[in-house]
Amino acid sequence: MLENLKDQPADKILALMQAFRDDPRDDKIDLGVGVYRNAAGVTPVMRAVKAAEKRIWETQETKAYTGLAGDPAYARALGGMILGDAADWDRLAAVATPGGTGAIRQGLELIGMAAPGATVWVSAPTWPNHLSILRHLNMPMRDYHYFDDATREVDFDGMLADLAKVGRGDAVLLHGCCHNPTGANLTAEQWAQVADLLAEKGAMPFIDIAYQGFGDGLDADAAGVRLLAGRLPQMLIAASCSKNFGIYRERTGLLMALAEDAGQKALAQTNLAHLNRQNFSFPPDHGARLVQTILGDADLRADWMAELEDVRTGMLDLRRQLADELRQRSNSDRFDFLARHRGMFSRLGATPAQVEALRRDHGIYMVGDSRMNIAGLNAQTVPVLARAIVDVGV
Ligand SMILES: Cc1ncc(COP(=O)(O)O)c(C=O)c1O
Repeated sequence: MLENLKDQPADKILALMQAFRDDPRDDKIDLGVGVYRNAAGVTPVMRAVKAAEKRIWETQETKAYTGLAGDPAYARALGGMILGDAADWDRLAAVATPGGTGAIRQGLELIGMAAPGATVWVSAPTWPNHLSILRHLNMPMRDYHYFDDATREVDFDGMLADLAKVGRGDAVLLHGCCHNPTGANLTAEQWAQVADLLAEKGAMPFIDIAYQGFGDGLDADAAGVRLLAGRLPQMLIAASCSKNFGIYRERTGLLMALAEDAGQKALAQTNLAHLNRQNFSFPPDHGARLVQTILGDADLRADWMAELEDVRTGMLDLRRQLADELRQRSNSDRFDFLARHRGMFSRLGATPAQVEALRRDHGIYMVGDSRMNIAGLNAQTVPVLARAIVDVGV
């Protein structure tokens, strides 16, 4: 049987990680994989996470199964953090999932169950795993313009023109903040226009929010998703705690479905629990319990928010430093977009040959589409990168 399997394409980002490891150069720089690193190149366990782990270790008396949806207190805590005042629990169904990826996968499956044959619209470009999960599920998909290669900002006119073609009952996948891979994001006014258009079209927004707190702040980063939740009758939200709590390997995510009323919420809830049951039964608990513990304790929450804020402002400083260096070295303002972008990534706009030259000649690793992980930089490597970018002719 196994001989019938077809080889699967290697995940490009994971292959890049391996190439970086194999590179013997001491001064190589990894701007590839999407993991936050501090100035020392470490992905730290956050202070509040350590404290919550200790507390859980001391007090937890059982490892028996939680519910199929996970602990409802986790959903309330995280859902509340995401939606703020827009969290209407009479209309919100929610399940814990293995990471944000698990939530995306299950959300797409739910769409397939509710509206077989519905088209899922994705931004061009988007996180490659969106596309590969959609392909795996054999779901119809189309893309909408998102990134303007010339300005490195959102091509909003192109986006609206494409979304005008969305059919009733289609789903539109949107990045809640800190767009991956581009770093270019919608303004509040643009979110409002998208909300109006989707409402008019009768389309289902599906928000993927994986970097809340990495852009303009915890509340500001959720402004788009909150606005949509306030205006649209239905929506799906896939959230990840991997980045903002630094608990990547704990696989901590949440899938929420905003329904029109309590009856529809109950229907969505049983379907979400059913999907969990079919795919993996009970969701992982440890990460969810950490998040719930931190958000539910004033001191831990304040400490977590302070550390997250340091992470966020550290990345913003690196963005500004890089844009400044590039302004001086290129004698132009054409890289200023780096300071305007938000989140961990920016698409530099280098050609594949330039990306290759950065790797070959300078030991600088970024994804082939020229996505750079800003958190892979530090004060010493910013000038090195700026010099190399100008050297290869970006
Ligand atoms: C846009 C986007 N969505 C979702 C995820 C899911 O992350 P995880 O499954 O690790 O929680 C990621 C992680 O890289 C991402 O970049």
